[in-house]
Amino acid sequence: MKKLIVANWKMCPDSLSDAKKIFGAIKKGISGSRGAEVVICPPSIFLSELKKSSSGNKISFGIQNIFTSKTGAHTGEISEQMAKSAGATYAIIGHSERRKMGETDVDVSIKIKAVLLEGITPIVCIGEPERDESGSYLSYLSSQLKESLASLSKKDLKDIIIAYEPVWAIGEKSKGAMQPSDIFETVLFLRKVLSDTFGKKEALETNFIYGGSVDEKNAGAIIKEGGVQGFLVGRASLLPEKFLKIIKASI
Ligand code: PGA
Repeated sequence: MKKLIVANWKMCPDSLSDAKKIFGAIKKGISGSRGAEVVICPPSIFLSELKKSSSGNKISFGIQNIFTSKTGAHTGEISEQMAKSAGATYAIIGHSERRKMGETDVDVSIKIKAVLLEGITPIVCIGEPERDESGSYLSYLSSQLKESLASLSKKDLKDIIIAYEPVWAIGEKSKGAMQPSDIFETVLFLRKVLSDTFGKKEALETNFIYGGSVDEKNAGAIIKEGGVQGFLVGRASLLPEKFLKIIKASI
């Protein structure tokens, strides 16, 4: 697959006009770049407006979350059908910031299946909160991955993206990005878990991206040595100049 570079704007920026400015600068900077698929996941309230202004451009859109039930009395929630009708072809599911708010592996599993049925590609986030000497983070990761994908069949696996995001590497106050060789090893471990659960062929075909303090300085080395096919970028995706450099470093 082409390298996949996903922008997770989280709850930023504060206004539609700022969102349009950031989007406009990214759009201008990547025009002509064929080597990567770029996905912008803005706050959902801005999605259709940005989609409108993207006409003819190769940028894709994603939603940052959906609800576990379909239509009905669920104040404040957004369904996968709504996301699709607004223009989303990707959905971030199970981000650690949502899991911190109480989202469980069971919720994640339900959401993944729901978006797949709608023809939306789920970007499934998994990652350990911390690392320990005794390696118990490995059993944490294994169980989180298996439980999060519990609703999937073997053949669903090729339609999902797994974003490995160690929680301790996410955000401004984090320890910073993981070393490329450590990312490589962890992705290898996760593939083994997939292989034991779904089969070797399916595991080898699954696409992994990395997230957690990706910036213009570390992107090139992670793509080269980290065994991943792209990035989920938080802070740096709101800074067009940095984000464009990350895209460039990835292709
Ligand atoms: P960060 O966020 O790039 O700001 O560390 C990544 C994420 O939360 O997906």
